[in-house]
Amino acid sequence: MKKISIYLVSMIFALGLSACKKTTPENVITIGEVGAMTGPTATFGISTHNGIMLAIEEINEAGGVKGKKLNLISLDDQGKPDEAAMVTTKLITQDKVVAILGEVASSVSLAMAPIAQQYKVPMITPSSTNPDVTKKGDHIFRVCFIDPFQGSVMAKFAHETLKAKSVAILRDIKNDYSMGLSNFFVDKFNSLGGKIAVEQSYSAGDIDFKSQLTSIRAKKPDAIYVPGYYTDVGLIARQARELGITVPLMGGDGWDSPKLKEIGGTAVNGSYFSNHYSAENQDPKVQEFLAKYKAKYGSTPDALAAMGYDAARVLAEAMERAPSLASNDLRDAIAATKDFSGVTGNITIDQDRNAVKAAVVLKVTDDGFKYQSTVNP
Ligand code: PHE
Repeated sequence: MKKISIYLVSMIFALGLSACKKTTPENVITIGEVGAMTGPTATFGISTHNGIMLAIEEINEAGGVKGKKLNLISLDDQGKPDEAAMVTTKLITQDKVVAILGEVASSVSLAMAPIAQQYKVPMITPSSTNPDVTKKGDHIFRVCFIDPFQGSVMAKFAHETLKAKSVAILRDIKNDYSMGLSNFFVDKFNSLGGKIAVEQSYSAGDIDFKSQLTSIRAKKPDAIYVPGYYTDVGLIARQARELGITVPLMGGDGWDSPKLKEIGGTAVNGSYFSNHYSAENQDPKVQEFLAKYKAKYGSTPDALAAMGYDAARVLAEAMERAPSLASNDLRDAIAATKDFSGVTGNITIDQDRNAVKAAVVLKVTDDGFKYQSTVNP
């Protein structure tokens, strides 16, 4: 009995292997994905992956790229830069991917980009917004806006809409995204005549923010800018309210997660953040994406999912246009992306390999993230 089952298992294994042989490498194009599927930013990786998979399935159903099916190898980096560098090297040297999608968190993308560049494998980050990411080399691209713009969006919102005269900053000191974004916010808010009441810092994973929040409370700011990731922000909001701080919190795209409300509860209500897309956008293209995503995953796509979907489609479209998938050909084709109609807006890659796109401002409510306004670049 035991022998038979071992025999069966090895038969299945052998069949599986030969099936793999048939489909690799002539009939498929293998691309890599690096993301945080576990850890404190796991919803970033999972949503992005869902968006990418939806795009790949559609592309494959429609015949693939250059007559070949796309095959995605997705690796978890747990949100850690070192781990991301390791799996990026593996994707390139062992799996021989022709391009890489990822990461979301800028600090993680900053660790991957030099490797992709060294091997000249094009990398497209769906949603890393720190300006330095694409400066790592001519094979590194993004399909989102960058933080000098994102910071200015919320500075203007604070000044014009909230009529805030003074704003306190609470930023994640080891996070390139958070540090960059808070600086860009400060520059813009100062230039509008606003005052920075106080700047305080934390490190991702901290659980007690009371001393920073107590210093902030003493300065009586009109709002607090917290450009961090959802797990920390949820806790910060709770503790701020416990200390009797009632002014609105503001943040950036790093707030975008269904977990923000789970962790922050009602404490995050009435806060505002900038983002790449709103699920309330009535554009038929957006609504069609929403319907397909909901049918497949049973939830409303967040911006990460939408950006993952767009990044995969931009890559596929560039592959189709490229004379070959050789590194420089593919790089040139991605660089030439123009007016690509994405669910997060029209995507044109500029000379710095960034996309120039509008941002939206959303309000956190019990009823979800409510669209407030669109800000054009
Ligand atoms: N822009 C963030 C960063 O660069 C990542 C992010 C994008 C998070 C979109 C949430 C939504 O680190």
